[in-house]
Amino acid sequence: MTAVPDRDHIAPFTPTTRSITAPDPVRTALRQAGPIVQVTAPAGGPAWIVTEEALAREVCAHPQIVKDPAMAPLYWDRMTAGLEQTAAEQPSLTTLDGPEHARLRRAHAPLFSARRIGEQSPRIHAIARQLLTGIAAHGAVVDLMADFTIRYPLTVLLDLLGIPLDRLDEAIDACRRMLDDEPDAQQEAIAAIAGLAAAGLQDGGRGLAAELRDRMPAGTTPQELHYHLFGLIFAGQLTTDASIGFLIARLLGERDDPGAGGNENVLASGPGSVDELVRETLRRNPPAPFTLWRFTTTEIELAGVRLPARAPVLIDIQGIDTAPARSPGPDLTFGAGAHFCIGAQLALLELRAVATVLRQDFPRARLTVPHGGLRQSGLGGIQGNRLVVLPVVLTG
Ligand code: HEM
Repeated sequence: MTAVPDRDHIAPFTPTTRSITAPDPVRTALRQAGPIVQVTAPAGGPAWIVTEEALAREVCAHPQIVKDPAMAPLYWDRMTAGLEQTAAEQPSLTTLDGPEHARLRRAHAPLFSARRIGEQSPRIHAIARQLLTGIAAHGAVVDLMADFTIRYPLTVLLDLLGIPLDRLDEAIDACRRMLDDEPDAQQEAIAAIAGLAAAGLQDGGRGLAAELRDRMPAGTTPQELHYHLFGLIFAGQLTTDASIGFLIARLLGERDDPGAGGNENVLASGPGSVDELVRETLRRNPPAPFTLWRFTTTEIELAGVRLPARAPVLIDIQGIDTAPARSPGPDLTFGAGAHFCIGAQLALLELRAVATVLRQDFPRARLTVPHGGLRQSGLGGIQGNRLVVLPVVLTG
């Protein structure tokens, strides 16, 4: 078996701020270090990062590699590691595996299928148009990261789930508090979002929240259902929020300086060009640069490397998707295997709608700083980067 040296000089868990166009040195360093790289985890001890695509897909399907935080190293502090509760404490899509996970997926999947989400297309375009038109009425320079990128995905989610939109500001506030490092802030925010979820179930409920309730496996408690809805709201906001910033920067940056985003076709109006813009944005600036943590249930061998039981494993989605020698094929942006993102169709539609509305309704929209002057920052690790500000004039 191959001994893998600790790669402590690679810092995948360190906060960074850099230009939108600056390459991420962590990706290259990890890739060069091998298909599976041992690093030091934020919560201490070794962790393994998979940098090779075939191995990544093998990990996603491996029966001895699970999501349940109960299998995390016993010495890990849950807060430092950023872990959810265990599957026994709080069953969820992101912590269950095997048949229990499959049952929960079956309850969710039809509600988030391409067909069901496609039916929402006119509504989601209308939401994007309405919000951007409202912002444009101010007529001045607006920072789209200040409000729009969080308000838009939350409006879509609340509307879809059947949660009254007069609760939107509460949802925005709670999602912001999820990222607060005050000790109780996160638990309070989870409770607030779960409370909003409950509002989608009142009076019979008319949205997907009520449909999900009716599809839940027998024995699901109201508290468990509220947590599943919390999971959809939080995962759906956090990821799309960051992606919209990069998408708009790419779209408007290309107007000023074709090639700024690295994709010559961005302004082309031919079929498929919005899809390509979205795909390229997600590939280069994924809101989930790594998968969530997985853990080995027993000692296993991966690519000739021995991993002990309870070994923490991440997949370097961003590094794999942007590898220079990568063969054409599906990206890992939304993961792979049983835990493939349940919200992928929704996220893609939200992003396409923003790009389409900006192109059609705001042909004079522009960045007020050079594209390369935009800054991205992030905490490192599983949380992706976000633009610090995105100053834009929508109608010039
Ligand atoms: C551009 C936006 C998005 C990206 C890039 C993204 C990415 C991902 C990835 C990579 C995973 C798999 C994680 C793993 O295997 O450890 C995942 C899972 C998940 N995503 Fe998304 N996501 C996005 C938007 C959304 C939206 C809009 C929703 C809600 C409607 C959502 C809900 C979820 C849920 C619930 C899971 C867990 C699925 C499971 O474990 O079975 N995501 N996402």
